[in-house]
Amino acid sequence: MSHKSSNTVWHMPNINRKDRELLHRHKSAVLWFTGLSGSGKSTLAHAIEAYLYELDISTYVLDGDNIRQGLCGDLGFSDVDRVENIRRIGEVAKLLTDAGVLTITAFISPFKSDRAEVKKRFAKQDFIEVYCQCPIEVCMVRDVKGLYKKALSGEIKQFTGISSPYEAPEQADLVIDTSALSLDDSVQAVLNLLRDRQLIV
Ligand code: ADX
Repeated sequence: MSHKSSNTVWHMPNINRKDRELLHRHKSAVLWFTGLSGSGKSTLAHAIEAYLYELDISTYVLDGDNIRQGLCGDLGFSDVDRVENIRRIGEVAKLLTDAGVLTITAFISPFKSDRAEVKKRFAKQDFIEVYCQCPIEVCMVRDVKGLYKKALSGEIKQFTGISSPYEAPEQADLVIDTSALSLDDSVQAVLNLLRDRQLIV
């Protein structure tokens, strides 16, 4: 994207990502979860993080509900605000990846074009898209936060899947049907992918 801060000159750091990866003794990357609210992104992201912690892997989970209480607290759920939300998270994920951290993001990230823009900011092997696929009917029954009920009654506007679109990925690196797989099996599927990509042993 174009930026307004003209007259800035990139400062080359003395310590770079390779050095930090050596320090951490593992490679960094971003695991980008996308899916409807209630599809299990956060649950899966945090479960994977707990597992990776035991393997001495430095991780950080960027979680929609949490980030929207701070960094993105000025954003709502209009299309424009969601675009900005995902742009910021893409940039934060990029910084964390540069910091040598295995970064896990859990955002609905409903728009294909936004996910594609983020993907473009990463080297191919550094961006892993995981689609938490779950029928909306199942998300509605789960309705852990009671938001679907409010969205259906019209109390919450522009709710993803009800009154705002969700564009499913066509070529995710991994698709997890969280209505069919247990949490443990879902975690194992992601860990297998990380092993295949030689991010963990
Ligand atoms: S995103 O669309 O911009 O990627 P994000 O993942 O940050 O969304 O935030 C989604 C979370 O915000 C949901 O899990 C839910 O708890 C809450 N939320 C509140 N209002 C909405 C809404 N209108 N649409 C979707 N999620 C909402």
